[in-house]
Amino acid sequence: MCGIVGYVGHRPAAPLLVEGLHRLEYRGYDSAGLAVLVDGRLETRKAAGKIAELEKLLRNGGQPIGTCGIAHTRWATHGAPTTQNAHPHVDCHGHFAVVHNGIIENAGTLRQKLEALGHTLRTETDTEVIAHMLEEAYAGSLEEAVRAALRQVQGTYGIAVVSTHEPDKIVVARRGSPLLLGIGENGENFVASDAAAVVQHTRRVVYLDDGEMAVLTRDGYRTASLQGGAVTKEVIHVDWDLAAIEKGGHPHFMLKEIFEQPETLRNAMRGRLLEEEGMVRFGGLNLTPDELTAVKNITLIGCGTSWHAGLIGEYLLEEIARIPVEVEYASEFRYRNPVVGPDSLAIVISQSGETADTLAALREARQRGATVLGIVNVVGSTIAREADGGIYLHAGPEIGVASTKAFTSQVATLVMFTVLMGRLRGTLSLIQAREIIAALRKLPEQVEKLLGLNDQIGELARLYKDSTNFLYLGRGYNFPAALEGALKLKEISYIHAEGYPAAEMKHGAIALIDENMPVVVIAPNDAVYSKIVSNVEEVKARGGRIIAVVTEGNHELKNKVDHLITIPETIDPLTPILATVPLQLLAYHIAVMRGCNVDQPRNLAKSVTVE
Ligand code: F6R
Repeated sequence: MCGIVGYVGHRPAAPLLVEGLHRLEYRGYDSAGLAVLVDGRLETRKAAGKIAELEKLLRNGGQPIGTCGIAHTRWATHGAPTTQNAHPHVDCHGHFAVVHNGIIENAGTLRQKLEALGHTLRTETDTEVIAHMLEEAYAGSLEEAVRAALRQVQGTYGIAVVSTHEPDKIVVARRGSPLLLGIGENGENFVASDAAAVVQHTRRVVYLDDGEMAVLTRDGYRTASLQGGAVTKEVIHVDWDLAAIEKGGHPHFMLKEIFEQPETLRNAMRGRLLEEEGMVRFGGLNLTPDELTAVKNITLIGCGTSWHAGLIGEYLLEEIARIPVEVEYASEFRYRNPVVGPDSLAIVISQSGETADTLAALREARQRGATVLGIVNVVGSTIAREADGGIYLHAGPEIGVASTKAFTSQVATLVMFTVLMGRLRGTLSLIQAREIIAALRKLPEQVEKLLGLNDQIGELARLYKDSTNFLYLGRGYNFPAALEGALKLKEISYIHAEGYPAAEMKHGAIALIDENMPVVVIAPNDAVYSKIVSNVEEVKARGGRIIAVVTEGNHELKNKVDHLITIPETIDPLTPILATVPLQLLAYHIAVMRGCNVDQPRNLAKSVTVE
């Protein structure tokens, strides 16, 4: 995720800014840059790739000497991760530089307006519009220009701005993207998107809230609302160590990422749900409604967790959009002779966008004449670049090797895509679509509530941490959730676990059940609930220990199972998202209790770039 650092004081700004950027590296990024005010001019340095590339630029004689500046690590959302698209962005005449975290939803409209006014925009980013809007709005006060510009912006932002018109000043503002001020001791102040970037200099910070802004000089700072009124803020003393801050106070990235899911789900849906029209809008499909309607069949392709999301996609698209779907392991797809051709739509699903097998499958599908879409998290990744179009998850960097937040966003995205296809193909009515959209909107809050079960699930983990096998059962949309629950446990705790379609168990796996076998049964109130109750009875009759994931208010299973985990009521297609969250937590706690390296399990890589 992007990171912001700013400094105003009496020391050379560039080395301090670079040091701050390094502290934010753990968040993941694809380019970096800084702007420093030097003798009334703005000097900008930017580089694609690691911060080391930016440092190389600075070392080779390019270090701007000044004591006020802003810097940024970018994790691409709009536009490829190139040097040009790296922040800071400047206006036409180099008077304003801006760094920005978040997404400007109306950037397209703003860009058109600015171009009509004669501005030349040089990058593909949404952020650049802010620099030009400041140029338009400036009438003697940088603070007022920032206010005026932001009044026109829809979306989310944490921004920091410097200007040649008012050197030795940084103006910052926040809506939906974190920002804090670091209050220095001796005539210096900092701004950052994350305390990790400032704690080596000061432990005194002021967290801005949404709708607030601040003006920093070397002698002090002033906080105000975006409307203009003064706001008094508390100075907080930060006493975490750096490592804890980088993980947002969580002991592991995996837990941090599990807890980010309310936000990542919001990000996946932001600006895409059109409730009134019962429709979904994606900016980057590069396919017309007619082209989408003409698709005769869909092949969903992925590996591991992304393949599990694809399997849910198959159930969704066949059930709701009535279109034939195949789900393929990328590694298998390449080496057989799949029936994919010009009438086919291939959708490759990948968090990293770099998985070698998935990339090769994309190329194979393309060669066979299919149109290829990518559902990808990492912007500008190879899969994102090579696909004909696609949908970004906007989940931010996933650092824990076990995929968590990417999975729930992939499923939410597939639900949205299904709504689009169902509406275009006439298989989904306006009322049904509105119902799905309303349920999607509730999801982040429901996941938030589910995360409150963390302690209860920790206790459960204590009871089962020494088991050597686990079985996960689900039916319908929750069969893939059972596979995903089992995979999470396997990969981080090294306990053997199998996911099964619950009724299929009778054809073999039931032989494994005895009093030492914990069986996780996913049994929400959905179309197959009554069927799965019979499977619960079958397990119980053989002495298995049952952990059931049920919908709130389910009293029926209380006496039939050993433990209940309750999830909020939702529509059938969204149950796998809610069911997966407690299973992620269960795997996490068991792995921690077994002393495993949760974030970097043995033998696994985050991005599998070899066949
Ligand atoms: C499991 C996991 C892997 C990945 C798989 C595909 O937790 O992370 O199974 O899902 O390697 O990776 P992406 O989605 O990056 O293509």
